[in-house]
Amino acid sequence: MCAKTIETKDITYDTLLQGNKDWVKDTINSDPEFFDKLSAGQSPPVLWIGCSDSRVPANQITNTKPGDIFVHRNIANVVVHTDMNLLSVLDYSINVLKVKHVIVCGHYGCGGVKAALGNKQVGIIDNWLRNIRDVYRTHEREMATIEDPDQRFDRLVELNAIEGAANVTNTSIVQSAWANGQELAVHAWVYSLKTGIIKDLNVTCTCGDDVAPAFQVG
Ligand code: CO
Repeated sequence: MCAKTIETKDITYDTLLQGNKDWVKDTINSDPEFFDKLSAGQSPPVLWIGCSDSRVPANQITNTKPGDIFVHRNIANVVVHTDMNLLSVLDYSINVLKVKHVIVCGHYGCGGVKAALGNKQVGIIDNWLRNIRDVYRTHEREMATIEDPDQRFDRLVELNAIEGAANVTNTSIVQSAWANGQELAVHAWVYSLKTGIIKDLNVTCTCGDDVAPAFQVG
């Protein structure tokens, strides 16, 4: 067994476990029933599809607690219809947990989006980020009108979240839920690492009428 200890910043293997003990103690102090209630089951009203970036934790930035948000995260919050992991999360959260909101949340300064904007080969991840190049291509005309590179980067982050939300609505899972009268809203948001503020991109979809005809299923 390898005994090498890998440490970064002030976080070590041991501080994580100690942190857990401290958190349990604090949590029970403020709510003695907390773990009894949570262990009985979950019914979160929200599915969060966000970036894996360590600076964008769904619960903290929305001031919510364990049990409030069902979470799926991947590099650059990509939503593609061939991703079985994402489809399983979407299906379970909508059909079993009956979430009322699906939120695709991107973030400015996203390294995945930035990599997709460049031409440098990174590795396996290039194949994943190809999906963002497709977003760029879909909006090539708009992107070409933005001269400032930082603004282009910010806009691609927004468009990637908007396309992600559209891809959520394009799934048979969401369209079937709407056809069955299930209350469900799909949103696109973007988070600022610099201010901590979330911006609603105002593309909320609550029924199948807004789905592009090519993607409508019945
Ligand atoms: Co990111």
